[in-house]
Amino acid sequence: MAPLSAVAQRRGTIGAVLSSRTAWDLAANALAARTDALRASGRPVLDLAQSNPTRAGLAWDPGELAAVLGDERAAIYEPTPQGLPEARAAVAEYLAARGAPVDAGRILLTASTSEAYALLFKLLCDPGDEVLVPAPSYPLLDLLADLEAVRLVRYPLRYDGAWHVDLAAIEAAVGPRTRALVAVSPANPTGAVLDGDELAALDRLCAAHDLALLGDEVFADTALGPCPSVVAEAGESLAFHLSGLSKVCGLPQLKAGWIAAAGPAERVGPALARLEVIADAYLSVSGPAQLALPSLLARRERFLAPLRARLAANRTILAAIRDAPATPLASAGGWTAVLRIGQTVDEESLCLALLDDGVVVQPGFFYDFERPGYLVVSLLAPPTEFALGLRRMLDRCASADFVSPSGR
Ligand SMILES: Cc1ncc(COP(=O)(O)O)c(C=O)c1O
Repeated sequence: MAPLSAVAQRRGTIGAVLSSRTAWDLAANALAARTDALRASGRPVLDLAQSNPTRAGLAWDPGELAAVLGDERAAIYEPTPQGLPEARAAVAEYLAARGAPVDAGRILLTASTSEAYALLFKLLCDPGDEVLVPAPSYPLLDLLADLEAVRLVRYPLRYDGAWHVDLAAIEAAVGPRTRALVAVSPANPTGAVLDGDELAALDRLCAAHDLALLGDEVFADTALGPCPSVVAEAGESLAFHLSGLSKVCGLPQLKAGWIAAAGPAERVGPALARLEVIADAYLSVSGPAQLALPSLLARRERFLAPLRARLAANRTILAAIRDAPATPLASAGGWTAVLRIGQTVDEESLCLALLDDGVVVQPGFFYDFERPGYLVVSLLAPPTEFALGLRRMLDRCASADFVSPSGR
């Protein structure tokens, strides 16, 4: 047998043995490098990009969490691809409380919402198939699609004082290889919430084109008004609700999420049977997390009540912005807010300058806005930090230094 190094030489470079779906440019971009440098410097940081609730003063009491995780039944391994029945029943109870009753038999546990996407892409798509996703939307979807060799096709969300889906634009984006449509409500980063009519229209559109409807509802508990679920609104298409403890309980470290299937029984049955086989290949949800899930969901207000208070306080600070060079866009929920800074401002130079001021903010281009001129802020920061960061941001926006070359 030829030594491995000789095999590698014949193939050209070691890189030739690696898949094209992982051929990312791994060089840190200027913003990421400068953000890391700021965090490592020990200087005080006003982090308006914080998405980790456990680092934003919203962590669970360690003793309570340890007690909930200490179930002695965890000593025995019970492999259940769909997830433990009591954990699935707890998810069904959570959804029923949201006005979206679903049979626990239609629920499958996952390690996270991200993993739920991965399982569903495997279930629905062959390599090269397409999935429709909203724009703007959060960047993780691109990575999840790359890993499943799936192509994302964007459909626009339109803003006219509130965010809307554009059904005609979605119709136009459907092609022969489209397999599914992702709807995120409340959306990240826009905070757009789909109403019942919009969800019903998406359901009909998906049924008409034989697409699955994926409803990412991780931020539903922070909606400022009604937030209908695909589980309740979808009747014609094969639909899936996705969520998890990461956002419902502020416990990303637990690695527990779920999928709930909805739609006609003759479509849901075969889909769930195959999903169970996919889940069986990994069995990725840990036993202790499954056993703790009912208690954690029952105590979710321990996290959600202070979270809502935090989000409301920061929304009030945002709403007080008047006659400033940045305008907050209306939002109906979620953990983030969008500010319009105008197309003439160069997002990246502004964010780099803000890092010099000790403020971390994300540029709109991370989220695929149709046009330049947006910033995205997390609403998780403690309000005093949020207000100070916002002040520095507005001061920087007011300076003329960041006009983009195309905007001059
Ligand atoms: C809209 C949305 N869906 C899903 C996720 C991923 O959630 P999880 O931590 O459960 O994988 C995120 C993460 O920020 C998100 O913003």
